[in-house]
Amino acid sequence: MVVTPDAATVDLVAPQSADAMRRVTILGSTGSVGTQTIDIVARNPDRYAVEALTANRNVALLAEQARQLKPRLAVVANPSKYADLKDALAGTGVEAAAGPEAVAAAAALPSDWVMAAIVGAAGLEPTLAAVRRGACVAFANKEVLVCAGALMMEEVGRHGATLLPVDSEHSAIYQVFDFDRVDSVQRLILTASGGPFRTKDRAFMATATREQAVAHPTWDMGAKISVDSATMMNKGLEIIEAHFLFGIPESKIDVLVHPQSVVHSLVEYVDGSVLAQLGTPDMRTPIAYALGWPARIPTPAERLDLVKAGTLTFEAPDPERFPALRLSRAALQSGGGAPTILSAANEVAVQAFLDRRIGFLDIERVVEGTMEALPHRPIRDLGEVRDADAEARRVAADRVAAVSR
Ligand SMILES: NC(=O)c1ccc[n+]([C@@H]2O[C@H](COP(=O)([O-])OP(=O)(O)OC[C@H]3O[C@@H](n4cnc5c(N)ncnc54)[C@H](OP(=O)(O)O)[C@@H]3O)[C@@H](O)[C@H]2O)c1
Repeated sequence: MVVTPDAATVDLVAPQSADAMRRVTILGSTGSVGTQTIDIVARNPDRYAVEALTANRNVALLAEQARQLKPRLAVVANPSKYADLKDALAGTGVEAAAGPEAVAAAAALPSDWVMAAIVGAAGLEPTLAAVRRGACVAFANKEVLVCAGALMMEEVGRHGATLLPVDSEHSAIYQVFDFDRVDSVQRLILTASGGPFRTKDRAFMATATREQAVAHPTWDMGAKISVDSATMMNKGLEIIEAHFLFGIPESKIDVLVHPQSVVHSLVEYVDGSVLAQLGTPDMRTPIAYALGWPARIPTPAERLDLVKAGTLTFEAPDPERFPALRLSRAALQSGGGAPTILSAANEVAVQAFLDRRIGFLDIERVVEGTMEALPHRPIRDLGEVRDADAEARRVAADRVAAVSR
């Protein structure tokens, strides 16, 4: 099952013209992708109305967004924040709710378009709720496809939902991918900035701080994905995401380090043609592509000036310094619950690093150790996804405790 750009498949939910009013729900509205989505939505008040906004615990920003955009509902996943949210929304007419179930219920409300921008596997149930009502889902939350890719794509097909990739690399591929002639695709080439440690050796990485790891050279992103970029686990997760989104085997998905982040990814065809999508590194461009789809809408993103950009460089990734690429490929090749375990262990390890409980290189040790410790079981249903995720988190937490002792 691949995503399809055929507007006819979603004509119950997609706007029939660029001028039609579209109701949108933003899951993770207080995050990096969420706030940039709000930026585009707020610039187009005649085109978009907001149904629901959700966050985890950032009540102040969520309430500010709700006062500005007047959704029907605003939700915090953290139940202890309910009273704060209710107080902050008093007199606005916006309903407040709290808890993970309320986030999933927000996704199930009848909006035309849902931005899935929660970080981590916490986005699984809400994304599924949107998919199961056949919504048009703009998909940033890559961990969901990594932890439950096959099941998610089955649900997309079963319910006639549409997934529009938001990751800049997958948006690029989506824009140049020949969905009618998938056999003509020779390989996908995901570009990677290389992250803040692209030129650093392992000795430097061993003592790298949280501040150094989140200081991404080209993209301004949330803490978790920034650390994933530093380890290059982000690119590993993206290989898995691309496999499920486009139905292309792991052996035909390559990674190319491109520090300027201008070429956002490429598709090579059997005749030797290579098609790419280019732009300045600004997430509002892929967000707007998904928000406007099938039309294109303007964004304030800086225009690409290739003369000013000057030399564009490309290099092969270094699997010795960045073992996360190897671990991700091994998980995808193993199949079943292996990607679920990889992603859950990585979430635990990255959080421990962000909390300064373990060192930077301990992240890969925790992930690899968790993968080795757990049997690779098949995944037949969501219950098995949840079990594999929970077990991996337990084992990874033990390993974090052992490392930080
Ligand atoms: N940032 C980028 O440029 C970028 C690019 C491509 C893909 N992505 C992907 O997009 C997703 C979001 O990334 P981000 O950088 O925007 O992350 P972020 O800045 O950390 O924002 C995460 C959002 O999810 C909410 N959230 C966190 N934990 C939650 C939970 N347990 N339940 C419900 N909501 C929760 C947060 O709420 P609070 O603010 O209340 O904590 C926030 O709204 C990730 O999967 C990332 O890999 C991001």
